[in-house]
Amino acid sequence: MAKLGVNIDHVATVREARKGREPDPVLAASLAELGGADGITVHLREDRRHIQDRDVRLLRSVVKTKLNLEMAGSEPIVMVALDVKPDQATLVPERRQELTTEGGLDVAGGATRLREVIARLHASGIVVSLFIDPDRDAVKRSRDLGADSVELHTGRYAGAHSESEAEEAAQELERAAAAAGEIGLHLHAGHGLDYRNVGRIVRLPHLEELNIGHSIISRAVFVGIERAVREMKALVADRR
Ligand code: PXP
Repeated sequence: MAKLGVNIDHVATVREARKGREPDPVLAASLAELGGADGITVHLREDRRHIQDRDVRLLRSVVKTKLNLEMAGSEPIVMVALDVKPDQATLVPERRQELTTEGGLDVAGGATRLREVIARLHASGIVVSLFIDPDRDAVKRSRDLGADSVELHTGRYAGAHSESEAEEAAQELERAAAAAGEIGLHLHAGHGLDYRNVGRIVRLPHLEELNIGHSIISRAVFVGIERAVREMKALVADRR
């Protein structure tokens, strides 16, 4: 059964709307764990639009499951990661104007920097995952760069406008998942997943971890975060 990493960035988004103290993502992390989260994911963006350095540091000591830090490979962020030492770092591309992470990493063009960052994170005992588009070549390149796992970008599947487009995107994910399995890379997936579309993704071969944020926090507004996580966890466990 795949593990569920709950991304709590958007608890911080609500807090930053007033630049105040609540709601506190650190409390959200503990409640998500009570609801069955197997890990807590946060993205410390360069513009600090939601998660702040203080959150990452407090989460490091409060999270009992697994702390996964989504991060760009820029030097100031790498320095924070090496200091805080999350259990896992997921390297993502980052553009200032984007609403959310729009595509996978450029594992070909950015190879030199990625290889160096991966080696430094490894030297600090941090497991490294690369967020990539579902493409066999990107999977193989990730292994060559030294990554422990890949997180396949499920955005095309999740944002599909028709059944046939969703089917095509799902098959693309299946091929990339099989490639990761063949070469022994751990397999994660995420982006845009919700209570309706996650079913197909939990059946991906070799899947070990899903990272889901926006849909869980949106549901939590109405039912509370523990229940929202428990409901998603039940869907992730159901591989029929
Ligand atoms: N995985 C990665 C690498 C991401 O960048 C994000 C968004 O922060 C997610 C998963 C979660 O996406 P969503 O909030 O759409 O569930």
